[in-house]
Amino acid sequence: MKTMLWEDGALKILDQTKLPAVTEYIVARDVKTVADAIRRLSVRGAPAIGAAAAYGVVIGAKAINEPDLNKFMAQLEKVAVELTSTRPTAVNLRWAVERMLNKVRGRSDLSTADAKQILLEEAHKIFCEDLEANRRMGEHGQHLIPDGAGIITHCNAGALATAGFGTALGVIRAAHRAGKKIHVYADETRPLLQGARLTAWEMKQEDIPVTLITDNMAGYLMSQGKADVVIVGADRIAANGDVANKIGTYSLAVLAQAHGIPFYVAIPLSTLDLSLPSGDQIPIEQRAEDEVTSFGGTQVAPAGVKVWNPAFDVTPNRLVTAIITERGVVRPPYNENLRRIVEEGDYLSDDICIGANPAK
Ligand code: MRU
Repeated sequence: MKTMLWEDGALKILDQTKLPAVTEYIVARDVKTVADAIRRLSVRGAPAIGAAAAYGVVIGAKAINEPDLNKFMAQLEKVAVELTSTRPTAVNLRWAVERMLNKVRGRSDLSTADAKQILLEEAHKIFCEDLEANRRMGEHGQHLIPDGAGIITHCNAGALATAGFGTALGVIRAAHRAGKKIHVYADETRPLLQGARLTAWEMKQEDIPVTLITDNMAGYLMSQGKADVVIVGADRIAANGDVANKIGTYSLAVLAQAHGIPFYVAIPLSTLDLSLPSGDQIPIEQRAEDEVTSFGGTQVAPAGVKVWNPAFDVTPNRLVTAIITERGVVRPPYNENLRRIVEEGDYLSDDICIGANPAK
């Protein structure tokens, strides 16, 4: 099942708010529909919202009937703001939209028709590169997973959160495909249940052994010797290796350290934000109170109770054993080694993602 598809000039977005009960695609033909889908988590997960926003730029560009490139660009900048203002934490969103606009900014040689075509090709490239990055991450990361390992993961860092294959779940998939007898423990991930609804579903689709736990069971599970590894994705990693990921990740990292269990984070380099020195500068999204006061549409807390609902937390670098990327596994000191892996070369070599529509 594809997280998103580009078909007949529209972006079809798998509505993840309805999974696993209902499989339904939203057909986005305007920017507002894409932005709403991102905001309400119909499409979610850092790389997936980046790719969706890239196609959102294509859709926005298509609707601009303006032959003058400067005027076209002025309108496209507004499209970019509409898309990037949807969610603040995952840097992939801004990264993708900026990458799209940079493709056509300052190109006075282009007609607007050319610019539209270039934007479509760039969106396909972002999608395709993410898929390839996940596969490579899987290859690098699976060597860290021992045969027979019990693996805890949090939220959903799978195919649904990316262009395909997944980051943390990509590593798990690769370990499974390498013949390792692994067992996944999926944290339910309150309040929106990405672990229960999405990770458990993804694992079951491929017959990867999975057991669902609520978030408060991880410590006891570790104390029982059932977990050998924790692996998660991320929404943004700062230059020093501090990791912003789904709320609850930090607690899991503290527990992993207390039990002497390695804590791995798998990311494409598009999730790395070297402009931020530490996690203190990462904006943390606050979401609506009713996500916490209700469960499955039923009110479970007294009316009017105060709620704190940060969607993400920051895990300090000292708790992170290694960061798995498409270029290889990065270990501390992160300040030095993350920068080095970025400076090593192009994001991915150019010959991989040219021409086709991979989101089809
Ligand atoms: O609020 P969500 O569901 O978008 O949060 C997603 C996560 O926290 C994921 O772990 C992260 O984006 C990595 S996805 C490869």
